[in-house]
Amino acid sequence: MISEKMQEALNLQINEEFRSAFTYLALSAYFESEELRGCAIWMRVQYEEELMHGTKIYDYIHDRDGQVSLSMVAAPECEPRSPLAAFELALSGEQALTAKIYSLVDLCHEVRDHGTHTFLQWFVTEQVEEEDIIRDIVKDLKRIGDSNDGLFMLDRELKQRQPQSNAAMPE
Ligand code: FEO
Repeated sequence: MISEKMQEALNLQINEEFRSAFTYLALSAYFESEELRGCAIWMRVQYEEELMHGTKIYDYIHDRDGQVSLSMVAAPECEPRSPLAAFELALSGEQALTAKIYSLVDLCHEVRDHGTHTFLQWFVTEQVEEEDIIRDIVKDLKRIGDSNDGLFMLDRELKQRQPQSNAAMPE
């Protein structure tokens, strides 16, 4: 059985992951409006990943015979003025998520929950990978600057990203 304190913290994290999903979906919509389909698809796949993260925690709480408690997901606050600003927003969002995952790991030590500690290691690794990937895209966009050709090439590259799930993707 999971402790009340840990259960509450994990339920809050489900909400954080779904909020992150909403932000990526909003960023996908931004790129659709800019007619950068590759960036839009990249963000759409990331939206699905975040949904999967939230659902993974949802399943874990049930695995530990706990109680899932869902709360309202706040509307995303994102009106990027450029592709670079959009990916910088994604990066800062991931950095904030990393901090929250680290706090959960700290809580595991506090309440001596070794099972949840092991469960969260997947998220620790995932955050390192996600920050690294997005940081690289931010660097690329900074190098590209105002070059339309450079942006076109990057957009084409990001279009290659494949969804991990079978959820429907835009054509
Ligand atoms: Fe759920 Fe992007 O971390």
